[in-house]
Amino acid sequence: MSPVPATIIARRAQLDATSALGLHLPDGRDVLLVTVHGKISAFVNRCPHQGVALQAEPNVFLEAGGELIQCAMHGALFLPDTGECVFGPCQGRHLEPVAVSVDAEGNIQLAGE
Ligand code: FES
Repeated sequence: MSPVPATIIARRAQLDATSALGLHLPDGRDVLLVTVHGKISAFVNRCPHQGVALQAEPNVFLEAGGELIQCAMHGALFLPDTGECVFGPCQGRHLEPVAVSVDAEGNIQLAGE
């Protein structure tokens, strides 16, 4: 049986240029990718407070300092490594993580595929 080809969802260079990307995956999930201090994180784009998408403008998911993920609706702040909300109405709750990996060519793909 041949291996299932990995699903490439973005390229590292895209993310390096913008620090954050919103994507609609073939499986129907809306996800956000961010890079903070060179580490890529991915989460389902749904705030645990009211279940809405986090961004008010395309690909804007980080607060002005570029260190934390921010929900544009009520300003909740999330750690980019764990998705934990550290400020705002959903403090202590988490964004749902999406496992991704980066291959040698800089392709970001869903992990485990
Ligand atoms: S919907 Fe995100 S903080 Fe309220």
